[in-house]
Amino acid sequence: MARILIINGPNLNLLGVREPDIYGKVTMEDYIEAIKADYPHVEIDYYQSNHEGDIIDKLHEDGFANDLNGIVLNAGAYTHTSLAIADAIKAIKVPVVEVHISNVHSREAVRHTSMISGVCRGVIAGFGLDSYRLAIEAILS
Ligand code: DQA
Repeated sequence: MARILIINGPNLNLLGVREPDIYGKVTMEDYIEAIKADYPHVEIDYYQSNHEGDIIDKLHEDGFANDLNGIVLNAGAYTHTSLAIADAIKAIKVPVVEVHISNVHSREAVRHTSMISGVCRGVIAGFGLDSYRLAIEAILS
């Protein structure tokens, strides 16, 4: 059975409540339930943290697992700042797909730069929560 880990970074625990005009009205918990139902043949694990070090620890913990096909990572604002998360992605074996709900390139200039894109397998941004599904499809393909 394929296994995929979704990691969400800071403030993404507030999906559904936070800036719904940008991030939508669906909570991540509801979305994870729906995506699990859509992919009954895939084990989908979910982890969220608001703390940079916790995200790095999770990447270290799961990033060498032979049974893990890929990691879908929305690092939130750490995307734009975290050399440490980039180094962690570079260090691990499991491929990481960078995901954003919003189209970061159509937003403020500070969001146009990603510290992690260059060390990820690919980048998906701007498709709302469907960005996660598209990343899963990319990992499974
Ligand atoms: C985000 C975009 C980031 O710029 C922002 O800081 C987030 C969410 C997105 O999913 O669109 O927290 O990663």
